[in-house]
Amino acid sequence: MTRDLAAPEAGGRPPAAAEPVLEIRGLRVSYDAPTGRVQAVAGLDLVLRPGDSVGLVGESGSGKSTVALAVMGLLPAGGRVDAGQVRLLGRDLTTLPEHELRAVRWRQAAMVFQKAMSAFSPVHRLADHFVDVWRAHRPERGRRARSLALERARVLLEAVGLRPDALWAYPHTLSGGMLQRALIALALVHQPRLLILDEATTALDVVTQAQVLSEVARLQREFDLTTLVISHDIGVVAALCRRVAVLYAGHLVEEGPVQQVLEAPRHPYTAALVRAFPRLRGPRRRLESIPGTLPDLTRPPQGCVFADRCPRAAGACREGPPPVEHSGGRMVRCRFPLGGDAGA
Ligand SMILES: Nc1ncnc2c1ncn2[C@@H]1O[C@H](COP(=O)(O)OP(=O)(O)OP(=O)(O)O)[C@@H](O)[C@H]1O
Ligand SMILES: [Mg+2]
Repeated sequence: MTRDLAAPEAGGRPPAAAEPVLEIRGLRVSYDAPTGRVQAVAGLDLVLRPGDSVGLVGESGSGKSTVALAVMGLLPAGGRVDAGQVRLLGRDLTTLPEHELRAVRWRQAAMVFQKAMSAFSPVHRLADHFVDVWRAHRPERGRRARSLALERARVLLEAVGLRPDALWAYPHTLSGGMLQRALIALALVHQPRLLILDEATTALDVVTQAQVLSEVARLQREFDLTTLVISHDIGVVAALCRRVAVLYAGHLVEEGPVQQVLEAPRHPYTAALVRAFPRLRGPRRRLESIPGTLPDLTRPPQGCVFADRCPRAAGACREGPPPVEHSGGRMVRCRFPLGGDAGA
Protein backbone atom coordinates (compact mmCIF):
# COMPACT_ATOMS: atom_id res chain seq x y z
CA MET A 1 0.00 0.00 0.00
CA THR A 2 1.18 3.53 -0.73
CA ARG A 3 1.68 5.53 2.42
CA ASP A 4 -0.09 8.86 2.21
CA LEU A 5 2.61 11.43 2.70
CA ALA A 6 1.20 13.99 0.32
CA ALA A 7 1.77 17.50 1.50
CA PRO A 8 -1.42 19.32 0.48
CA GLU A 9 -1.22 20.69 -3.05
CA ALA A 10 2.34 19.37 -3.39
CA GLY A 11 3.68 17.80 -6.55
CA GLY A 12 0.97 18.94 -8.97
CA ARG A 13 -1.59 16.80 -10.74
CA PRO A 14 -0.68 13.14 -10.94
CA PRO A 15 -0.24 11.92 -14.52
CA ALA A 16 -2.62 9.52 -16.21
CA ALA A 17 -1.53 5.93 -15.70
CA ALA A 18 0.18 5.50 -19.06
CA GLU A 19 1.85 8.91 -19.23
CA PRO A 20 5.59 8.57 -18.63
CA VAL A 21 7.03 10.34 -15.60
CA LEU A 22 10.25 10.96 -17.50
CA GLU A 23 10.68 10.79 -21.25
CA ILE A 24 14.11 11.55 -22.68
CA ARG A 25 14.27 11.72 -26.49
CA GLY A 26 17.37 12.23 -28.62
CA LEU A 27 19.25 13.97 -25.80
CA ARG A 28 22.67 15.34 -26.75
CA VAL A 29 24.79 17.12 -24.18
CA SER A 30 28.29 18.54 -24.59
CA TYR A 31 30.85 20.41 -22.48
CA ASP A 32 33.46 22.99 -23.36
CA ALA A 33 36.96 21.60 -22.92
CA PRO A 34 40.38 23.00 -23.82
CA THR A 35 40.68 20.53 -26.71
CA GLY A 36 37.17 21.07 -28.12
CA ARG A 37 33.62 20.10 -27.18
CA VAL A 38 33.21 16.88 -25.23
CA GLN A 39 30.23 14.93 -26.57
CA ALA A 40 29.14 13.55 -23.17
CA VAL A 41 25.66 12.31 -24.14
CA ALA A 42 25.17 11.45 -27.79
CA GLY A 43 21.48 10.97 -28.60
CA LEU A 44 19.89 9.20 -25.67
CA ASP A 45 16.34 7.84 -25.44
CA LEU A 46 14.99 6.67 -22.10
CA VAL A 47 11.42 6.43 -20.81
CA LEU A 48 10.42 5.93 -17.17
CA ARG A 49 6.77 5.10 -16.54
CA PRO A 50 5.07 5.58 -13.17
CA GLY A 51 6.59 3.27 -10.57
CA ASP A 52 9.53 2.32 -12.80
CA SER A 53 12.96 1.90 -11.32
CA VAL A 54 15.71 2.12 -13.90
CA GLY A 55 19.40 1.72 -13.24
CA LEU A 56 21.85 3.64 -15.39
CA VAL A 57 25.22 1.88 -15.36
CA GLY A 58 28.52 2.38 -17.11
CA GLU A 59 32.13 3.04 -16.29
CA SER A 60 33.48 6.37 -15.08
CA GLY A 61 33.12 9.08 -17.74
CA SER A 62 30.35 7.31 -19.66
CA GLY A 63 27.94 10.23 -19.11
CA LYS A 64 25.69 9.01 -16.28
CA SER A 65 25.83 12.17 -14.15
CA THR A 66 25.51 14.34 -17.24
CA VAL A 67 22.16 12.69 -17.99
CA ALA A 68 20.99 13.37 -14.42
CA LEU A 69 22.20 16.97 -14.43
CA ALA A 70 20.53 17.61 -17.79
CA VAL A 71 17.24 16.22 -16.44
CA MET A 72 17.44 18.48 -13.40
CA GLY A 73 18.57 21.52 -15.40
CA LEU A 74 21.74 21.64 -13.34
CA LEU A 75 24.49 21.36 -15.97
CA PRO A 76 27.55 23.36 -14.92
CA ALA A 77 28.85 26.33 -16.89
CA GLY A 78 30.30 25.10 -20.19
CA GLY A 79 27.74 22.27 -20.39
CA ARG A 80 24.74 22.53 -22.69
CA VAL A 81 21.90 20.52 -24.16
CA ASP A 82 22.54 20.55 -27.92
CA ALA A 83 19.47 18.61 -28.98
CA GLY A 84 16.58 16.51 -27.76
CA GLN A 85 13.86 16.70 -25.16
CA VAL A 86 13.56 15.92 -21.47
CA ARG A 87 9.86 15.66 -20.67
CA LEU A 88 8.95 15.44 -17.01
CA LEU A 89 5.27 14.71 -16.45
CA GLY A 90 4.67 15.85 -20.01
CA ARG A 91 6.56 19.18 -19.88
CA ASP A 92 9.79 19.68 -21.82
CA LEU A 93 12.32 20.93 -19.28
CA THR A 94 14.93 21.90 -21.85
CA THR A 95 12.83 24.92 -22.85
CA LEU A 96 11.78 26.05 -19.35
CA PRO A 97 13.22 29.25 -17.91
CA GLU A 98 15.29 28.90 -14.73
CA HIS A 99 12.58 30.18 -12.35
CA GLU A 100 10.15 27.50 -13.57
CA LEU A 101 12.84 24.84 -13.41
CA ARG A 102 13.44 25.71 -9.77
CA ALA A 103 9.84 24.88 -8.98
CA VAL A 104 10.14 21.57 -10.80
CA ARG A 105 13.19 20.63 -8.76
CA TRP A 106 12.13 19.32 -5.36
CA ARG A 107 8.42 19.32 -6.19
CA GLN A 108 8.46 17.00 -9.19
CA ALA A 109 11.98 15.66 -9.37
CA ALA A 110 14.69 15.47 -6.73
CA MET A 111 18.26 14.26 -6.87
CA VAL A 112 20.59 12.80 -4.26
CA PHE A 113 24.33 12.93 -4.84
CA GLN A 114 27.18 10.93 -3.43
CA LYS A 115 28.58 13.47 -1.01
CA ALA A 116 25.94 14.09 1.63
CA MET A 117 28.30 16.05 3.88
CA SER A 118 28.79 18.81 1.32
CA ALA A 119 25.02 19.12 0.80
CA PHE A 120 24.47 20.18 4.42
CA SER A 121 25.57 23.42 6.00
CA PRO A 122 27.74 22.45 8.99
CA VAL A 123 26.43 25.26 11.21
CA HIS A 124 22.77 24.30 10.96
CA ARG A 125 20.89 21.44 12.55
CA LEU A 126 19.05 19.03 10.23
CA ALA A 127 15.79 20.65 11.31
CA ASP A 128 16.81 23.97 9.76
CA HIS A 129 17.57 22.28 6.45
CA PHE A 130 14.11 20.70 6.35
CA VAL A 131 12.47 24.04 7.21
CA ASP A 132 14.44 25.87 4.48
CA VAL A 133 13.52 23.33 1.81
CA TRP A 134 9.89 23.39 2.94
CA ARG A 135 9.67 27.19 2.83
CA ALA A 136 11.28 27.42 -0.60
CA HIS A 137 8.24 25.87 -2.26
CA ARG A 138 5.36 26.38 0.16
CA PRO A 139 3.31 29.46 0.93
CA GLU A 140 3.35 29.13 4.75
CA ARG A 141 5.66 31.37 6.75
CA GLY A 142 6.80 31.77 10.35
CA ARG A 143 5.98 29.25 13.05
CA ARG A 144 3.36 27.49 10.98
CA ALA A 145 5.89 26.73 8.23
CA ARG A 146 8.32 25.43 10.84
CA SER A 147 5.83 23.17 12.52
CA LEU A 148 4.53 21.71 9.22
CA ALA A 149 8.09 21.19 7.96
CA LEU A 150 9.15 19.44 11.14
CA GLU A 151 6.06 17.27 11.15
CA ARG A 152 6.90 16.08 7.66
CA ALA A 153 10.61 15.74 8.47
CA ARG A 154 9.84 13.37 11.36
CA VAL A 155 7.78 11.10 9.12
CA LEU A 156 10.46 11.10 6.44
CA LEU A 157 13.34 10.49 8.83
CA GLU A 158 11.53 7.52 10.26
CA ALA A 159 10.86 6.26 6.72
CA VAL A 160 14.60 6.24 5.97
CA GLY A 161 15.42 4.48 9.23
CA LEU A 162 16.49 7.47 11.35
CA ARG A 163 15.12 8.48 14.70
CA PRO A 164 13.12 11.72 14.60
CA ASP A 165 15.44 13.29 17.19
CA ALA A 166 18.16 13.31 14.51
CA LEU A 167 16.46 16.59 13.57
CA TRP A 168 18.36 18.30 16.38
CA ALA A 169 21.76 17.01 15.32
CA TYR A 170 24.43 18.99 13.50
CA PRO A 171 25.59 17.27 10.29
CA HIS A 172 29.16 16.62 11.52
CA THR A 173 27.85 14.56 14.46
CA LEU A 174 26.17 12.04 12.11
CA SER A 175 27.82 9.08 10.38
CA GLY A 176 28.07 8.93 6.58
CA GLY A 177 25.20 6.45 6.41
CA MET A 178 22.96 8.61 8.61
CA LEU A 179 23.74 11.71 6.55
CA GLN A 180 23.01 9.91 3.31
CA ARG A 181 19.67 8.77 4.75
CA ALA A 182 18.92 12.32 5.90
CA LEU A 183 19.67 13.62 2.42
CA ILE A 184 17.27 11.11 0.88
CA ALA A 185 14.60 12.19 3.39
CA LEU A 186 15.25 15.84 2.49
CA ALA A 187 14.82 15.06 -1.21
CA LEU A 188 11.34 13.69 -0.46
CA VAL A 189 10.00 16.75 1.41
CA HIS A 190 7.82 17.92 -1.47
CA GLN A 191 6.86 14.42 -2.55
CA PRO A 192 8.59 14.39 -5.94
CA ARG A 193 7.38 11.87 -8.50
CA LEU A 194 10.92 11.24 -9.72
CA LEU A 195 13.90 10.53 -7.49
CA ILE A 196 17.36 10.40 -9.04
CA LEU A 197 20.08 8.77 -6.96
CA ASP A 198 23.54 9.48 -8.38
CA GLU A 199 26.03 7.13 -6.70
CA ALA A 200 24.06 7.87 -3.52
CA THR A 201 25.47 4.89 -1.62
CA THR A 202 28.90 4.63 -3.24
CA ALA A 203 30.84 6.24 -0.39
CA LEU A 204 29.33 3.95 2.27
CA ASP A 205 30.87 0.79 3.66
CA VAL A 206 29.22 -2.40 2.37
CA VAL A 207 27.12 -3.08 5.48
CA THR A 208 25.77 0.48 5.64
CA GLN A 209 25.26 0.48 1.89
CA ALA A 210 23.12 -2.66 2.13
CA GLN A 211 21.02 -1.06 4.90
CA VAL A 212 20.48 2.17 2.96
CA LEU A 213 19.64 0.21 -0.20
CA SER A 214 16.97 -1.72 1.64
CA GLU A 215 15.49 1.55 2.98
CA VAL A 216 15.44 2.97 -0.55
CA ALA A 217 13.77 -0.18 -1.90
CA ARG A 218 11.06 0.25 0.73
CA LEU A 219 10.66 3.96 -0.07
CA GLN A 220 10.17 3.14 -3.75
CA ARG A 221 7.20 0.95 -2.86
CA GLU A 222 5.69 2.99 -0.05
CA PHE A 223 6.01 6.42 -1.66
CA ASP A 224 5.18 5.21 -5.16
CA LEU A 225 8.38 6.75 -6.49
CA THR A 226 9.74 6.50 -9.96
CA THR A 227 13.50 6.19 -9.62
CA LEU A 228 16.57 6.59 -11.78
CA VAL A 229 19.47 4.94 -10.00
CA ILE A 230 22.91 5.88 -11.30
CA SER A 231 25.76 3.65 -10.34
CA HIS A 232 28.91 2.10 -11.67
CA ASP A 233 28.05 -0.84 -9.37
CA ILE A 234 25.83 -3.43 -11.01
CA GLY A 235 25.02 -4.89 -7.57
CA VAL A 236 23.33 -1.63 -6.50
CA VAL A 237 21.21 -1.60 -9.63
CA ALA A 238 20.32 -5.27 -9.26
CA ALA A 239 19.15 -4.56 -5.70
CA LEU A 240 17.00 -1.55 -6.55
CA CYS A 241 15.89 -1.65 -10.15
CA ARG A 242 13.45 -3.42 -12.41
CA ARG A 243 15.22 -2.33 -15.58
CA VAL A 244 18.78 -1.45 -16.46
CA ALA A 245 20.18 0.87 -19.12
CA VAL A 246 23.85 0.52 -20.01
CA LEU A 247 25.66 3.68 -21.05
CA TYR A 248 28.98 3.71 -22.89
CA ALA A 249 30.67 6.91 -24.11
CA GLY A 250 27.36 8.77 -24.12
CA HIS A 251 25.41 6.06 -25.97
CA LEU A 252 22.88 3.65 -24.52
CA VAL A 253 24.17 0.31 -25.75
CA GLU A 254 21.69 -2.00 -24.04
CA GLU A 255 18.48 -1.79 -22.04
CA GLY A 256 16.01 -4.27 -20.60
CA PRO A 257 14.72 -6.06 -17.50
CA VAL A 258 17.56 -6.12 -15.00
CA GLN A 259 17.69 -9.86 -14.39
CA GLN A 260 17.58 -10.77 -18.10
CA VAL A 261 20.25 -8.25 -19.04
CA LEU A 262 22.62 -9.26 -16.25
CA GLU A 263 22.12 -12.99 -16.75
CA ALA A 264 22.23 -12.94 -20.54
CA PRO A 265 23.80 -9.67 -21.74
CA ARG A 266 23.55 -9.06 -25.47
CA HIS A 267 26.01 -6.18 -25.89
CA PRO A 268 29.69 -7.13 -25.58
CA TYR A 269 30.22 -4.11 -23.30
CA THR A 270 27.46 -5.22 -20.92
CA ALA A 271 28.97 -8.71 -20.91
CA ALA A 272 32.38 -7.27 -20.02
CA LEU A 273 30.85 -5.09 -17.29
CA VAL A 274 29.09 -8.10 -15.75
CA ARG A 275 32.34 -10.10 -15.79
CA ALA A 276 34.07 -7.21 -14.02
CA PHE A 277 31.75 -7.45 -11.00
CA PRO A 278 31.53 -10.04 -8.26
CA ARG A 279 28.49 -12.28 -8.57
CA LEU A 280 25.67 -11.68 -6.13
CA ARG A 281 24.92 -15.39 -5.89
CA GLY A 282 26.44 -18.62 -7.06
CA PRO A 283 30.04 -19.77 -7.20
CA ARG A 284 32.89 -17.29 -7.02
CA ARG A 285 34.84 -16.60 -10.16
CA ARG A 286 37.74 -14.51 -11.34
CA LEU A 287 36.91 -10.90 -12.07
CA GLU A 288 38.04 -9.54 -15.42
CA SER A 289 38.85 -5.93 -16.10
CA ILE A 290 37.89 -4.37 -19.43
CA PRO A 291 41.08 -3.61 -21.37
CA GLY A 292 41.39 -0.18 -22.98
CA THR A 293 39.76 3.17 -22.26
CA LEU A 294 36.82 5.26 -23.41
CA PRO A 295 37.30 6.94 -26.80
CA ASP A 296 38.25 10.62 -27.00
CA LEU A 297 34.83 12.26 -26.68
CA THR A 298 36.01 15.44 -28.40
CA ARG A 299 36.42 13.30 -31.55
CA PRO A 300 33.92 10.43 -31.21
CA PRO A 301 34.44 7.57 -33.69
CA GLN A 302 32.30 7.28 -36.85
CA GLY A 303 31.28 3.71 -36.12
CA CYS A 304 30.45 1.89 -32.92
CA VAL A 305 31.91 3.69 -29.89
CA PHE A 306 32.94 0.37 -28.28
CA ALA A 307 34.63 -1.09 -31.39
CA ASP A 308 38.21 -0.40 -30.24
CA ARG A 309 37.71 -2.48 -27.08
CA CYS A 310 35.31 -5.06 -28.43
CA PRO A 311 36.40 -8.67 -28.90
CA ARG A 312 33.67 -9.15 -31.54
CA ALA A 313 34.34 -6.04 -33.63
CA ALA A 314 34.74 -6.43 -37.39
CA GLY A 315 35.55 -3.86 -40.09
CA ALA A 316 31.87 -2.95 -40.56
CA CYS A 317 31.64 -1.91 -36.89
CA ARG A 318 34.09 0.94 -37.51
CA GLU A 319 32.40 2.20 -40.67
CA GLY A 320 29.06 3.42 -39.40
CA PRO A 321 26.79 3.48 -36.36
CA PRO A 322 25.59 0.05 -35.23
CA PRO A 323 21.98 -0.99 -35.82
CA VAL A 324 19.53 -0.90 -32.92
CA GLU A 325 17.52 -4.03 -32.24
CA HIS A 326 14.37 -4.07 -30.13
CA SER A 327 12.85 -7.37 -29.08
CA GLY A 328 11.05 -8.82 -26.08
CA GLY A 329 11.28 -5.59 -24.07
CA ARG A 330 15.02 -5.37 -24.67
CA MET A 331 17.16 -3.04 -26.75
CA VAL A 332 20.68 -3.63 -27.98
CA ARG A 333 22.81 -1.35 -30.15
CA CYS A 334 25.26 -3.71 -31.81
CA ARG A 335 26.01 -5.23 -35.21
CA PHE A 336 26.98 -8.58 -33.69
CA PRO A 337 25.05 -8.95 -30.42
CA LEU A 338 25.55 -11.95 -28.19
CA GLY A 339 22.85 -14.59 -28.10
CA GLY A 340 21.63 -13.68 -31.61
CA ASP A 341 22.10 -15.47 -34.93
CA ALA A 342 25.79 -14.70 -34.81
CA GLY A 343 26.02 -16.93 -31.70
CA ALA A 344 27.32 -16.07 -28.24
N1 LIG B 1 32.20 20.21 -16.24
C1 LIG B 1 32.73 19.48 -17.22
N2 LIG B 1 33.52 20.04 -18.17
C2 LIG B 1 34.06 19.32 -19.18
N3 LIG B 1 33.85 18.00 -19.34
C3 LIG B 1 33.07 17.37 -18.44
C4 LIG B 1 32.47 18.07 -17.34
N4 LIG B 1 31.75 17.20 -16.61
C5 LIG B 1 31.89 16.01 -17.23
N5 LIG B 1 32.67 16.10 -18.31
C6 LIG B 1 33.04 15.03 -19.26
O1 LIG B 1 31.83 14.45 -19.75
C7 LIG B 1 31.95 13.03 -19.83
C8 LIG B 1 30.86 12.38 -18.99
O2 LIG B 1 31.08 12.70 -17.63
P1 LIG B 1 30.09 12.25 -16.46
O3 LIG B 1 30.53 12.93 -15.23
O4 LIG B 1 28.69 12.47 -16.91
O5 LIG B 1 30.36 10.69 -16.38
P2 LIG B 1 29.88 9.63 -15.26
O6 LIG B 1 29.41 8.44 -16.03
O7 LIG B 1 28.95 10.28 -14.32
O8 LIG B 1 31.27 9.28 -14.55
P3 LIG B 1 31.54 8.89 -12.99
O9 LIG B 1 31.17 7.43 -12.85
O10 LIG B 1 33.01 9.09 -12.85
O11 LIG B 1 30.73 9.79 -12.13
C9 LIG B 1 33.37 12.70 -19.38
O12 LIG B 1 34.18 12.62 -20.53
C10 LIG B 1 33.76 13.89 -18.55
O13 LIG B 1 35.15 14.09 -18.58
MG1 LIG C 1 29.01 10.61 -12.24
